[in-house]
Amino acid sequence: MKDLDGKVAVITGGAGGIGRAMGIRMAEEGMRICLSDLDEARLAATVAELRETGMDVIGVAADVSELSSVEALRDATISHFGVVDVVCNNAGVASGAHGRLWEHEINDWRFAFSVHVYGVINGINAFVPYLIDRGVETHVVNTSSNNGGFAPIAMSPTYATCKAAVVTISECLWGQLHEIDAKVGVSVLFPTGRTKGVLDTGIWAAAERPPGYEAAAPIDHTNKMAGWIASMEAAGTPVAVTPLSEVADQVVDGLYANRFWMVEEGRFEESVKQRADIMLRRADPLYQLG
Ligand SMILES: NC(=O)c1ccc[n+]([C@@H]2O[C@H](COP(=O)([O-])OP(=O)(O)OC[C@H]3O[C@@H](n4cnc5c(N)ncnc54)[C@H](O)[C@@H]3O)[C@@H](O)[C@H]2O)c1
Repeated sequence: MKDLDGKVAVITGGAGGIGRAMGIRMAEEGMRICLSDLDEARLAATVAELRETGMDVIGVAADVSELSSVEALRDATISHFGVVDVVCNNAGVASGAHGRLWEHEINDWRFAFSVHVYGVINGINAFVPYLIDRGVETHVVNTSSNNGGFAPIAMSPTYATCKAAVVTISECLWGQLHEIDAKVGVSVLFPTGRTKGVLDTGIWAAAERPPGYEAAAPIDHTNKMAGWIASMEAAGTPVAVTPLSEVADQVVDGLYANRFWMVEEGRFEESVKQRADIMLRRADPLYQLG
């Protein structure tokens, strides 16, 4: 997009973490922001805090796993701001599934898919026909992850599988929009920054599951980030924390450049090359992360 000033962005999973950081960064470009989230209390607190800074922001609660809820989000944003220009399908969860893949409960898969995969599909179904009809430069950003997007961490199969699907959905969407010459750009985001390190967001704690997606085995909802950093430090590998603003910089930069692959330059090159090389040699999948 050539110009972001005055444009309207809808960001799901925007009550905190990467979504909130994207909203703040886009507002710095003069954009008007609709942050959306399932967590109404966190959303209300974030919107109130950001309004204090002068941001033109509204909060609309929505559940990305329900198409009707995402359609209501679209309608509420248009009713407030008049238009939507940028849609960030960003909501995500740690499903809390653990153990061997063959011991996962079916609800572990259903829950992860409902947010990560159907969340993106619902975002596309609710917004893309509207964006095509507008006939002006607009954009969709889908959040994937290096875990699954480039290569999986074998011990997180539901998350990695969903994030691989987000890449493929985004590639197909780009191809189809390109074919009809639509002015709707598409990007897939792999959250990273210039600083190599971890992203301090809510994703380190397993999400509460809604009715219908309950797990039979108890889920540990504690935040795992501090413990993980401590264990890395104890093993002699200190871990930096990547400022979330660096992820958001990459998104804004990618919007201006109409860049499909929103990934920090120079990151994951080795794993991408290694994976392609292994496939071409028909060797074992030893490129797995983590
Ligand atoms: N943090 C990382 O290290 C990392 C790395 C790669 C990708 N990601 C991805 O980035 C995205 C943002 O995650 P984050 O790290 O900022 O975590 P976060 O937990 O801070 O933010 C995710 C938000 O999504 C919301 N959400 C969950 N289920 C929802 C639903 N059904 N409908 C609407 N909102 C819902 C949560 O309430 C939360 O506010 C996710 O897609 C995540 O998978 C994160």
